[in-house]
Amino acid sequence: MKFNTAEDRLILALDVTNRADAERLVEATDGIVGVYKVGLEFAMAGGLDFAGELARAGRKVFLDMKLLDIPNTVAGATRTAGALGVTFLTVHSYPQALRAAVSARPEGLSVVAVTVLTSLGDTDVAEAGYGMGVTELVESRIAAAAASGADAIVCSPGEAAAARRSGLQVITPGVRLASDPAGDQKRVATPQQAILSGADAIVVGRPINAAPDPAEAAARYVAAIREALGAL
Ligand code: C5P
Repeated sequence: MKFNTAEDRLILALDVTNRADAERLVEATDGIVGVYKVGLEFAMAGGLDFAGELARAGRKVFLDMKLLDIPNTVAGATRTAGALGVTFLTVHSYPQALRAAVSARPEGLSVVAVTVLTSLGDTDVAEAGYGMGVTELVESRIAAAAASGADAIVCSPGEAAAARRSGLQVITPGVRLASDPAGDQKRVATPQQAILSGADAIVVGRPINAAPDPAEAAARYVAAIREALGAL
């Protein structure tokens, strides 16, 4: 998918545990949010069916399943995600898994490589057995994404500039307007900073989902994206 308008570039994380909440958010933000993200938590509570319904209704869906498995399974899951009609599917940025997803992706499905989870620091990657720090690991994951033919990279705003140099689309979570609380996100950037450092689109959850008026909150994010696009 090409990100054209400011609305296209706002991906709302439907981090809910039931479809009534998801329906409420989608209805409230209709026409303001370009893409809806369904992640693991909602997937376990009917989110996959909901994702298919949204896609059939013509909405763009970002299926955040962070796949990592043997190539045959990743390829099969990519095909079934494609049959749901979703537009984006995330895969951990391991060359073998990415190649499997890329080879199986149907027309219209973008394979999005997840670099290194933003919850991981140098000690965590050492504990997980990697002989390098986070920065080096992120660089190798960006290179893997580009070499495997993935369409996009999801990474923190701080990594957006490096990801951008790969030539792939860049999508960043960890985004907050200065007026919104950061919550558990440790390294946050404003929408303007994210776009100016190379993000094509941003993922936002709680600041919109938990707002008294989600439509108004979403519109503030879109306005910030538009402002940054104007400064590019
Ligand atoms: O509520 P908040 O805006 O922090 O939500 C961000 C969304 O982006 C969540 O769905 C979270 O799982 C996701 N995400 C993230 N950091 C990553 C990858 C995904 O926060 N590195």
